[in-house]
Amino acid sequence: MKHPYFEPYKTKMVEPIFVSNRNSREKWLKTADYNLFNLKSNQVVVDLLTDSGTGAMSDQQWAAMMLGDESYAGSSSYYNLKKAIAQITGFNYFLPTHQGRAAENVLFSTIIKAGDIVPGNSHFDTTKGHIEFRQATALDCTIDEAFDTSINHPFKGNIDITKLKSAIEKHGAQKIPLIILTITCNTSGGQPVSMQNIKEVNNIAKHYQIPLFFDSARFAENAYFIKTRETGYNKKSIKEICLEMFSYADGMTMSSKKDAIVNMGGFIGFRDEELYKKASTYNIMFEGFITYGGLSGRDMNALAIGLDEGTEYDFLNARIGQVAYLGNHLKEFDIPIMEPFGGHAIFVDAKKFLPQIAKEQYIAQTLALELYLEAGIRAVEIGTLLADRDPNTRENRYPNLELVRLAIPRRVYSNNHMDLVAVALKNIWDRRTTITKGYEIISEAPILRHFTVKLKPIKL
Ligand code: F0G
Repeated sequence: MKHPYFEPYKTKMVEPIFVSNRNSREKWLKTADYNLFNLKSNQVVVDLLTDSGTGAMSDQQWAAMMLGDESYAGSSSYYNLKKAIAQITGFNYFLPTHQGRAAENVLFSTIIKAGDIVPGNSHFDTTKGHIEFRQATALDCTIDEAFDTSINHPFKGNIDITKLKSAIEKHGAQKIPLIILTITCNTSGGQPVSMQNIKEVNNIAKHYQIPLFFDSARFAENAYFIKTRETGYNKKSIKEICLEMFSYADGMTMSSKKDAIVNMGGFIGFRDEELYKKASTYNIMFEGFITYGGLSGRDMNALAIGLDEGTEYDFLNARIGQVAYLGNHLKEFDIPIMEPFGGHAIFVDAKKFLPQIAKEQYIAQTLALELYLEAGIRAVEIGTLLADRDPNTRENRYPNLELVRLAIPRRVYSNNHMDLVAVALKNIWDRRTTITKGYEIISEAPILRHFTVKLKPIKL
């Protein structure tokens, strides 16, 4: 028999989970205005809101924190991180930032101006927010297969090369300050981008002399999928694949809270010294001096180690194996989910789950709230609330997909927790026809509304 995968670590410290009943959850949800972001963490049993900053650090990372050098300028922790980034990504210039969106803010302040177009594969919401905030446009050039949850394509994060080329021809390269490739593509379901596609996008970027940046929050998971799905990469190590991926980019933004397994942190990597120097000024204004940029020395030390641990095959195999474990369980119950499974999360297709709910009543949010009421599981809506309003018309944007994301924190939950999630969804699946109404908005912010939106149930 083939040995099953197992976690290449054991537990040294634990944290309690607060168990609750449905009555309490109903009360808490009302107080939270039917927005799961407003719940207190001790009102949640299994927290799958995000895999961002929620991972468990290793003993090596905690030990490295004790050695953090808190000097304002030139700390040894900065140089530890610089070395790790160069080793894992090949970028010799970098700026630390406090998280991924801060990296976007600094980079975009340097290169994006009003009227610009930024093509990419389904930009993440903060990325899009930072682009639109500058009166520029985020143009989605993802392949069409990504928008059909039943098509089994190995690299649904890929950019459609024809769409990208015609966008550049239509708008002109001078209007395009950069192309952003998100690896893996969170918004389209944690789906990877193939090395082949990375190369093709790089060729186009070079041809038109447009910088290519990776939004790299889950780059190690992307490398794992290249290794396991793309011809010719099976024998290469994750670290070799990462170096090859980044060799096709001019730079990267990183939310270190994901694949680098720290609770807070980010950075920007650059190949070009001039661009690095220009961005340094914004980093100093928004984040902090260039050798700490919003991070303490101990954070940079932990991040340097996290980059190494997060790019180890055995870890990734267990992590992505756990995500697939949950996915397979849900499939056995016939629950409609996105396939192939994403790297960091399973995405439930809420339109197929609750076809009777009108899109104006927030289908995915309705399902996410049901899941919380059923078993205290907190997931997140990736649907109309997240898609927000069109900045010009202020009309709701209705995305092709209404998804509930079950994002799995790294090194935190066991497969028994995954079993609980699967059974909870199965119970809702069995009574799905009794759910006949969704929710309406009471109040919302003008941008990134899903974090603070207030809702109420539509009365029968
Ligand atoms: N890019 C991607 C692909 C992301 O998934 C995120 C964050 C960011 C950028 C922004 O990074 O949070 O460090 O500022 N995603 C989190 C999530 C919030 O839940 O998927 P950040």
